[in-house]
Amino acid sequence: MKMTADFLVIGSGIAGLSYALKVAEQGSVALVTKREIDITATSLAQGGIAAVSSETDSLKSHAEDTMVAGAYLSHPDIVDMVVSAGPQAIKNLIDWGTRFSKREDTPDEYDLTREGGHSHRRILHAKDATGKEIERALVEEVRNHSNITVYEQHIAVDLITEAKIQKRKLDKNRCLGAYILDTARNEIVTFGAKVTVLATGGAGKVYLYTCNPDIATGDGVAIAWRAGAKVANMEFMQFHPTTLYHPHAKSFLISEAVRGEGAILRRRDGYAFMPDYHHQRDLAPRDIVARAIDNEMKTQGDDCVFLDITHKSADYIRDRFPTIYQTCLDYGIDMTSQGIPVVPAAHYLCGGIQVNEWGETCLEQLFAIGEVASTGLHGANRLASNSLLEGIVFADRAATRSQHYLAHPTDPYPQIEPWDSSGATKSNEGVVVSHNWDEIRRTMWNYVGIVRSDKRLRWALSRIHLIQEEIDDHYWNYQITSDLVELRNIATVAELIIKSAQLRHESRGLHYTLDHPKRDDRRFRHDTVIPGAELKLKP
Ligand code: SIN
Repeated sequence: MKMTADFLVIGSGIAGLSYALKVAEQGSVALVTKREIDITATSLAQGGIAAVSSETDSLKSHAEDTMVAGAYLSHPDIVDMVVSAGPQAIKNLIDWGTRFSKREDTPDEYDLTREGGHSHRRILHAKDATGKEIERALVEEVRNHSNITVYEQHIAVDLITEAKIQKRKLDKNRCLGAYILDTARNEIVTFGAKVTVLATGGAGKVYLYTCNPDIATGDGVAIAWRAGAKVANMEFMQFHPTTLYHPHAKSFLISEAVRGEGAILRRRDGYAFMPDYHHQRDLAPRDIVARAIDNEMKTQGDDCVFLDITHKSADYIRDRFPTIYQTCLDYGIDMTSQGIPVVPAAHYLCGGIQVNEWGETCLEQLFAIGEVASTGLHGANRLASNSLLEGIVFADRAATRSQHYLAHPTDPYPQIEPWDSSGATKSNEGVVVSHNWDEIRRTMWNYVGIVRSDKRLRWALSRIHLIQEEIDDHYWNYQITSDLVELRNIATVAELIIKSAQLRHESRGLHYTLDHPKRDDRRFRHDTVIPGAELKLKP
């Protein structure tokens, strides 16, 4: 089957939805999403969205906090552009129907919370379920827009490029759409588009423990890189310091806003350890807090630390953090009277597909926005609550730039061949998927986690390469399933993370290695860029 649209948007978090709403006035939009529309990382974002909105705050201060958190690898021009666009982005969200929490004492004003690395209260939130509220508002708008068609249960398999169609390397390659697996009908659909936008989110599932949703398998990064796009800064995987430690909680996030409102990290013996690590104590940048927890757990031999907010009134806790309170209670933990057991888990990919200030990749007609992109904003460590902001700001810029392609003089839909599944049979080796899925994620957690070393990276890469051989064999010979697509993608992303980490012989932000424990501004104050893969055709 073949479908065409002016804009093909892959992903339905804040970036994909807001982009779709912006361009739908100009042309038809096909919005493709892997599960249901609201199964996204955006929906799980608790803390909020950072933007300057108080008299006592300033754009300069927001920019400085972003640079410091990013260990001076963020691009100053991009940082200035994004923080300056913050107030307008918030206005857009409110116009689309997002209801942020207001102050109780002055109900005309929005309540501003704080998180690690911020020198001011500047985070708008909807209690402790900000992303859910944003997603609700945007989904409602998208569903009501006659120019947007939503395709749920559709997973992108690969991009369609001019080089692939012509079966040869091209100096100037362009993207013409994507092959998408309709998982309900088990059929690969050819989607042709004048503009393709990857807004597929992050890659937490590359690691054994993650607070990301199950969909976070790095699909966008993997398919873009395979199509020849450059990726950057993949070594900077952010580990959130505080996720619930409970065998059945699937690393449920305990928002940094809990520390923003005064919670203290303690060891099992009650000792508050963060003052030993940083002058901002429990509100130090996230990389520092995660490493401190890792160190305390390892030196004490404990399997978690505790987040204590019991000094606040029970009424306040229940009102300010209703989702976290109820979820903890469901697991038998009453945060109004006891510390919450927490551990770090993979949370946010700071690198991704390299894009310019308009969200354009190095492939013509291909954009990347949101967590999947490396825009230059986050540097070596993302400042808390800057991600929703980045998503909506770059969606807006990409939408503006995309207009150009509507009037593209060349044939937007050249003869695209349908997906070739000749010779593929149904696999009876499901174990290939389950075993390798587990092995990749365990390898990455143990060898490419919060603390790395040259040797661990080498070991990890050789394992990933072996696994990739098996996956490739399976991929080319058997019918494609969504599990296989995701497995292939996490393997690719794992490889890119390791290779990027191997190129950075220093410790900076989220990349900490025992063999190069110091920061080296002279040699490494630049992005780690990996060129796109060579063109590979079906063997
Ligand atoms: C949190 O609520 O702690 C997550 C916010 C973020 O990652 O920006």
